[in-house]
Amino acid sequence: MTASSYSLTEFVEDLRQITAEHSEDSSILREVTPLAQRFAADPTWRDEKHYEADEEQGIGFHLLHEEPDNTLAVFAISWLPGKGVGPHNHRTWSVVVGVDGTELNTFWKRTDDGDKPGFATIEETSRRDIGHGEVIGMDGNAIHSVINNGDQTTLSLHVYGMHLNHSGRSLFDPLANTEEKLIVKVQD
Ligand SMILES: [Fe+2]
Repeated sequence: MTASSYSLTEFVEDLRQITAEHSEDSSILREVTPLAQRFAADPTWRDEKHYEADEEQGIGFHLLHEEPDNTLAVFAISWLPGKGVGPHNHRTWSVVVGVDGTELNTFWKRTDDGDKPGFATIEETSRRDIGHGEVIGMDGNAIHSVINNGDQTTLSLHVYGMHLNHSGRSLFDPLANTEEKLIVKVQD
């Protein structure tokens, strides 16, 4: 069976409808996950430039879509070999689909009560390799870290309820027990 084409325009229209009908992260994730997998598999959105990454941050954030109010952000994200990002939350629902190569996702849980600004303790709960076509859905409080352990640049599709630089997300340091704001440089 050949999957029919599923464009960015169609995907975004479906995201608008889903988020108009559902407010719970769990319901949104249930609806968005199969559509994100279908869109990730559609070759029409992919471009060689998505493999370009910022050397300093080791990652290339390529914005495919966001709404004028910064909601419904769709990114193609590339990871240079050996590069990754430390434990962070998104403070919005998110769906990640592997496109090219394998990225190791480590999941964490917060173990303090969040009362002390800038302080956080977290502990690892599980690890999972995300390869081509594989998907993970996370609610706004989920904490994960990502690394490309391979020798090729990897690419994955990321869908967020809110653009990451507007969601107020945090980066955690499990050794120093700190929590700080996480802002990334987005490429074209
Ligand atoms: Fe993330």
